[in-house]
Amino acid sequence: MSGSSITGWGSALPEKVVTNADFEARLDTSDAWIVERTGIRERRIGGTTSSLAIEAGAAAITRAGLSPSDIDLLVLSTTTPDKAVPATSATVHAQLGCSGAAFDLNAACAGYVYALVTADAMLTARIGFDRALVIGSDTLSSITDFEDRSTAVLFADGAGAVVLEHRQDSEPLVLASDLGLDGSLLPILYCEHGGYLKMEGREVFRRAVRVTVDSAAKVIAQAGIAADEIALFVPHQANQRIIDAMIQRLGIPRERAVIVLDRTGNTSSASIPLALVEAADAGRLSEGDLVLFSGFGAGMTWASAVVRWHQ
Ligand code: UT7
Repeated sequence: MSGSSITGWGSALPEKVVTNADFEARLDTSDAWIVERTGIRERRIGGTTSSLAIEAGAAAITRAGLSPSDIDLLVLSTTTPDKAVPATSATVHAQLGCSGAAFDLNAACAGYVYALVTADAMLTARIGFDRALVIGSDTLSSITDFEDRSTAVLFADGAGAVVLEHRQDSEPLVLASDLGLDGSLLPILYCEHGGYLKMEGREVFRRAVRVTVDSAAKVIAQAGIAADEIALFVPHQANQRIIDAMIQRLGIPRERAVIVLDRTGNTSSASIPLALVEAADAGRLSEGDLVLFSGFGAGMTWASAVVRWHQ
């Protein structure tokens, strides 16, 4: 048996805090509306996708007790690359001083789970990679129309990362995964080159609850476990009401869900690793714990995975 382990983690948030009161002063909105409909109280805005990715990646490598040159595979999940060409992972790879391969992956807000499953599969396939840095970094503020109250209050910037190390004697990291897409739903959430995010919020909400509950239930069944065996639930941080609906329908105890969106807003690819890193730093994970990840995003994409936490 061989598999990979999460041996390091780190995150990065811009310094600038934008509160709901800041939006109240500029737009026809209110703190009460934003909190009640989304759960978001403040968010961080600033930086570039590569700068946040580098900060989070460096912290994860340090935490793993490694040097950047020990990393031979870098997977960067992002929907907001710095440039059209080359991939933002090229900038991150060069500035951190990693070795080996690097590529970007865009599966919108489900991207981090796609990236984690992809990196783990590449390590366990034994095709020349031993240590992967898996980063989720997004600067959604760069594609958000701050005059549009229906999206301005939701989206923000950040990055989170983990280091995966392959070990010959390790049990598998990913016990079950489900990655999917329904391209017929592309029109409900998209952004043209040079434009702003356009979203049919209510429709995204309705679909998100359905696809993530189905997808999470599928991986729980595939892993051969019961929902109450999940020690930590790390959902995409888009809306507290979506997370509440998932918890209720899946039968996961509320206190096992990690919530950071009240302080981060929706940071797309960064939302799941930001939540994971906060939980790991707070000591909410023990050896052998089962962790459920579940996300959804533009496309419409979705992705869930059951992972066994071992360092
Ligand atoms: O990562 C994936 C990305 N997206 C999502 O996950 C978003 C999923 N959707 C949602 O989170 C919710 O649909 C929203 C938070 C976007 C909106 O909440 P909602 O409860 O679905 O509200 P709604 O779109 O049905 O709008 C209700 C009312 C509307 O006014 P009328 O037509 O009832 O007069 C909106 O114009 O709320 C109005 N509204 C606002 N009011 C105050 C929309 N945005 C705001 C705002 N402040 N910021």
